[in-house]
Amino acid sequence: MSESSKLLRVLLLGANGQVGRAWQETLHGVNVVAALGRDQLDIGDLDRLGDRLYDLAEAIKPNVIVNAAAYTAVDRAEDEEQLAYDINALAPGVIASVASNLGVPMVHYSTDYVFDGHGQAPFIETDAPSPLSVYGRSKLAGERAVQAVGGAHLILRTSWVFGVHGQNFLKTMLRLAQTRDELRVVNDQVGAPTSADLLAKVPSQMLQQIQHPSDPRWGVYHLCPTGYTSWHGYAVYLIEKAREMGWPIQLANESIIGIASSEFPVKARRPHNSRLSTQKLQQTFAIALPDWRVGVDQVLQVLEPGA
Ligand SMILES: NC(=O)c1ccc[n+]([C@@H]2O[C@H](COP(=O)([O-])OP(=O)(O)OC[C@H]3O[C@@H](n4cnc5c(N)ncnc54)[C@H](OP(=O)(O)O)[C@@H]3O)[C@@H](O)[C@H]2O)c1
Repeated sequence: MSESSKLLRVLLLGANGQVGRAWQETLHGVNVVAALGRDQLDIGDLDRLGDRLYDLAEAIKPNVIVNAAAYTAVDRAEDEEQLAYDINALAPGVIASVASNLGVPMVHYSTDYVFDGHGQAPFIETDAPSPLSVYGRSKLAGERAVQAVGGAHLILRTSWVFGVHGQNFLKTMLRLAQTRDELRVVNDQVGAPTSADLLAKVPSQMLQQIQHPSDPRWGVYHLCPTGYTSWHGYAVYLIEKAREMGWPIQLANESIIGIASSEFPVKARRPHNSRLSTQKLQQTFAIALPDWRVGVDQVLQVLEPGA
């Protein structure tokens, strides 16, 4: 680490999720001084959340609070609106308020689902959000709650998260590719599959560059890899790659069939265009983001064939 960079002392919430786990893997310049899963700190317990955070901060003296906790069950949220809002909208406001009072920044994650997916172009940070689902609306309300506090924050909107830990599309496709003769995968939604590792590594690099609460660079950024694909293109790529790496996959590429979203009905509407422009982040912090396939290859190298 250079002399000007600081050791991050991270208070991490949502420690057992994909992104939470990635923050706990070895990251240069990062010391996770408290990693709290839901069992240790339920952020939906709004009456106690603020006091619990102050007590923790007093004991461990973090210099950043990372909120990787979220209600991420997109379809179930349609039936559990209040719970989704408690966790995705109200809790982030409380966390931001504690962080601001302590004089430490907050890192918070948001989603491509704040947009309606209209058009073909990548969305930029200042495009008007227009979520299609309860989940998307709850995440947008969370962004606004964090912003309303007015403290130092990074809100990172991302898309299609996958990692070694937890459940995700990549692991589901690998499992099905080993047991099914045919797969039908949506081909009219496009976006960038984003590795949980990138979602921990890049903000830790951003935080190394921003030292002061009044720095003008705090704010909302889109964070995902470069390039984009459909869910179908993603499935074809990762299954082909796994096959090359020796996974026991019989399924031929021709048997991975692209279908329209309308042929795969789900409760919550998803945007057709989930592309996020990352120009603002790359230019502001001089950080070059990799192609989405790089993260997929890395996770495939870590997962056990046949898993
Ligand atoms: N997954 C995606 O494709 C995706 C796409 C765009 C944006 N994002 C955003 O990226 C961020 C990280 O997502 P992820 O993929 O890491 O999600 P994830 O794997 O579902 O992890 C979310 C974590 O939050 C925890 N959690 C839920 N309710 C909680 C509560 N009341 N108190 C404390 N912890 C609670 C969960 O605990 P349990 O382990 O006990 O369930 C889980 O460990 C979230 O803000 C999400 O909205 C995700």
